[in-house]
Amino acid sequence: MKHSSPWPQAFRSLAIIAGAAFSLSVTAQVNVEEAKNVFKDNDCRKCHSPDKAKGGPSLKKIAEKYKGKPDAEQKLIKHMTQGPRVKLENGKEEDHKLLDSNDPKVLKNVARWILSH
Ligand code: HEC
Repeated sequence: MKHSSPWPQAFRSLAIIAGAAFSLSVTAQVNVEEAKNVFKDNDCRKCHSPDKAKGGPSLKKIAEKYKGKPDAEQKLIKHMTQGPRVKLENGKEEDHKLLDSNDPKVLKNVARWILSH
């Protein structure tokens, strides 16, 4: 058998290992149970469901909108803590509901959870 350079293979393996470690660390940073509870306790589910528009956009749709945007987390946190004026699916306008927490850890976790859809 002809001996080819071992480098390309080694790089490929490294990339796979790095990729796996990265996705692991991202999932490990989201506490799904906690995020779901916060979402439920704040009545967010009244207007947001994982995959159906329901007053507001589905979580999948929000995640899609922010896919690949490095400032996604900050944008979502801002949205949830400042309550901008929004237009509901039925055309009615109101101030968006605020999340009743100022804890950056809680906010970050919810934002990451939404973006994971
Ligand atoms: C009365 C209905 C309603 C409730 C309750 C509600 N939302 Fe929303 N939400 C909306 C609507 C409508 C939009 C779309 C706003 C837009 O695209 O301009 C939205 C958008 C969002 C977005 C995306 C913002 C963006 O920049 O695209 C996030 C994140 C979000 N809501 C989180 C939450 C959280 C967390 C809660 C609970 C604290 C919540 N929402 C409760 C109606 C609601």
